[in-house]
Amino acid sequence: MVFARLSAIVALALAASQVNAALTKRVTCASGHVTANAACCALFPAVDFLQENLFDGGECGEEAHSALRLSFHDAIGFSIHGGKGGGADGSILAFNSTELEFHANGGIDDIVARQFPVFEGLTLSAGDFVHLAAAVGTANCPGAPRLEFFFGRPAPLAPAPDLTVPEPTDSVTKILARFADAGFSPAEAVALLSSHTIAAADVVDITIPGTPFDSTVGTFDTQVFLEVLLKGTAFPGNGSQAGEVLSPLAGEMRLQSDFAISQDPRTACLWQAMVNDQERMMSEFKAAMAKLQVLGQNTRRLVDCSDVVPVPAPFAGPIKFPASFSSKDLQLACKELRFPNIATVAGPAPTVAPVPGS
Ligand code: HEM
Ligand SMILES: *[C@@H]1O[C@H](CO)[C@@H](O)[C@H](O)[C@H]1NC(C)=O
Ligand SMILES: *[C@@H]1O[C@H](CO)[C@@H](O)[C@H](O)[C@H]1NC(C)=O
Repeated sequence: MVFARLSAIVALALAASQVNAALTKRVTCASGHVTANAACCALFPAVDFLQENLFDGGECGEEAHSALRLSFHDAIGFSIHGGKGGGADGSILAFNSTELEFHANGGIDDIVARQFPVFEGLTLSAGDFVHLAAAVGTANCPGAPRLEFFFGRPAPLAPAPDLTVPEPTDSVTKILARFADAGFSPAEAVALLSSHTIAAADVVDITIPGTPFDSTVGTFDTQVFLEVLLKGTAFPGNGSQAGEVLSPLAGEMRLQSDFAISQDPRTACLWQAMVNDQERMMSEFKAAMAKLQVLGQNTRRLVDCSDVVPVPAPFAGPIKFPASFSSKDLQLACKELRFPNIATVAGPAPTVAPVPGS
């Protein structure tokens, strides 16, 4: 009797330690990759497939940039109060004929058309596909944090409704209200805007597709936070367009919304604190993206497969003023923070080149 009870306890303890081991023991997949969970093994070939068929062999190019934008436009179709879509569910891919009609999704048709055949070449759900592609594409950009990836989103049920995606013509009040409605603080909204360090516009001014938001569009650095604070002097294309304000550099576009957020008392210090603080930007962007990419999902049903995401190359830094610019060109709205010392570069102001393939 005593013996039977003891062996039952031993058996229980053994079972518990095996469960524990299953949670923590690393698994070697048939492909040779090592992961924390056997369920993730299926994703290593999918990552290779994405790199080959979507990202030109692992580049931080147009497709990587727009895969990140797509993850935002998919996920933000959500409200903590309900009734605004399923969040990070891949509805933008699966219900593309509805969501691509929304004004704020201008230019998104290109990446949906590029992703759709690649999506059909894999067995992932639309949500897993969109958010894995964003994590992998971002990892191709030096300086980016290694984003998390949670696996197992069910198929999306319906398209998101219109008017969930912020527009560059929106006021800061409207933008922050939309982010709050989706569950994000002003600090998280600014952190997510780090994405505009690897961004270019195709449709704000259709005469100059691929016009970058900063002078280092292939690097996930804090350059965009600096350059949005430089006094604007000209428009890069055919005059002033809706959602665009004066930019400091030829060939560079400044969004009205980025500029307004950099100057608003609610966000100016959050914006300024990112300048030349690579570590802060990386950790805050990573945390906000982790939240964005599972919005509306039951995370208890998802498996943490973050170790399938490639490790990004580091950014050596520090950032510099574009040639000919210095601290006298700054327009700072945050008085509380000391502005960091940024190196200056001699020579004429650069002209920023468009992103190829736009
Ligand atoms: C205030 C909120 C935001 C506004 C108003 C906004 C607006 C825009 C606009 C107008 C473009 C250019 C589209 C075009 O003409 O092709 C753009 C590009 C981009 N946005 Fe945002 N955005 C916001 C937030 C975000 C967030 C939260 C992310 C990601 C986390 C994001 C990622 C991107 C990326 C990566 C691009 C570049 C796409 C490419 O180069 O192909 N944006 N954004
Ligand atoms: C949109 O989705 C449909 C399937 O619902 C697909 O056949 C089509 O190719 C997609 N459109 C684009 C632009 O990818
Ligand atoms: C340039 O802008 C003007 C209005 O400012 C417009 O009439 C003209 O069509 C635009 N040109 C192109 C090529 O889009």
